[in-house]
Amino acid sequence: MREFRDKFPIFQNNSLIYFDTAATAQKPRVVIEAMSQFYAEEYGTVHRAIYKLAAHSTLRYNQTREIVRRFLNAEHVEEIIFTRGTTDGINLVAASFSEAFIEKGDEILISAMEHHSNIVPWQLAAQKRGALLKVIPISDSGELILESIEKLLTPRTKILSLTHISNALGTINPIKEIIAMAHKNGTKVLIDGAQSAAHMPVDVQALDADFFVFSGHKAFGPTGVGVLYGKRELLEAMPPVQGGGDMVDTVTFAKTTYQPLPTKFESGTPMIVEVIGLGAALEFIESYGREEIQAYTHELLTCATEQLRQIDGLKIIGTAQEKGPIISFVLDGVHPLDLATLMDTKQIAMRTGHLCAQPLLLHFELKAVSRISFAPYNNKEEVDRFVTTLEMMKIALLR
Ligand SMILES: Cc1ncc(COP(=O)(O)O)c(C=O)c1O
Repeated sequence: MREFRDKFPIFQNNSLIYFDTAATAQKPRVVIEAMSQFYAEEYGTVHRAIYKLAAHSTLRYNQTREIVRRFLNAEHVEEIIFTRGTTDGINLVAASFSEAFIEKGDEILISAMEHHSNIVPWQLAAQKRGALLKVIPISDSGELILESIEKLLTPRTKILSLTHISNALGTINPIKEIIAMAHKNGTKVLIDGAQSAAHMPVDVQALDADFFVFSGHKAFGPTGVGVLYGKRELLEAMPPVQGGGDMVDTVTFAKTTYQPLPTKFESGTPMIVEVIGLGAALEFIESYGREEIQAYTHELLTCATEQLRQIDGLKIIGTAQEKGPIISFVLDGVHPLDLATLMDTKQIAMRTGHLCAQPLLLHFELKAVSRISFAPYNNKEEVDRFVTTLEMMKIALLR
């Protein structure tokens, strides 16, 4: 994977340690070049015009949908909707699914380890529909309490929305098992794949997920673009949430009819070049293989976890059996913000704060944590340098 790092211009000729991939991933040259080349030589609008540039842009845009279909192993290309990101995808489903399927007194199930993006859209939908929001509890190791799911699922539970990998704890949830449990109850499932899509194999058909969402920028692609996968029959039964150009078939002042999938959910001129960049990013990931990526970053996770455990006063938050490449921790007597500020002076980029998961931090009686997260552009030397720097900082901050 040494070669992987060389593909990222940001790491050239410096000693930057970038440990914040869980927030956003750095971009390989192929993505940057695909986008600038497209702007310079190929750019035109999509779906709307007859001239060659527009026809070519439309072709490339639609070819990217096929790249995404293959990446997730969706059955049909029209099950892939381009969004602005994970947040946008969850909001789309929360608004549209609830309008189609959720009535007063119905229930929506989420978990205690969700990112705010997988809490607030459901609160809004629940308020609007008069539904009840219920929460799967977690253990102190940061794992879902699986036995509680069966009890929480009732005939009124219409949807379960769950993260694949927790952005704060690193926990990988056993989603295949949970989806089967929900389906037995007639409950649909949305998987928040923000932290998993680029870091482990995902096969939406094998998982039998009803919806799966992720962000381009966390998958080495550009910001402003993301993906919503949804089973065709569900998306067909759901109303559009945004009206505008492109998504319509005929418009009169009396009545409007909509395009079939996927365009029904893509109103207005889309983020054409970002979609092209996303395609380049997913092909880049595929050229290394997600199993290989997962195996490599798991080694970094193990190496960092072992070393951090040796540090006096350091507590890892999230000690699940199955973890993605994310470690959150607190250090006795040290504020996470002070630590990250000092780390930055040593060219180490790490995250601190509530990680957009305030209810989760509350479970651990915390307001803020420090977090490091990995991608294959990181290596064990960086982990060693981080740990040595952390020990030095600890002494300086506690003095
Ligand atoms: C688990 C999880 N869900 C949702 C999101 C929101 O993603 P975005 O800000 O790209 O929409 C994030 C981002 O940190 C995340 O980690």
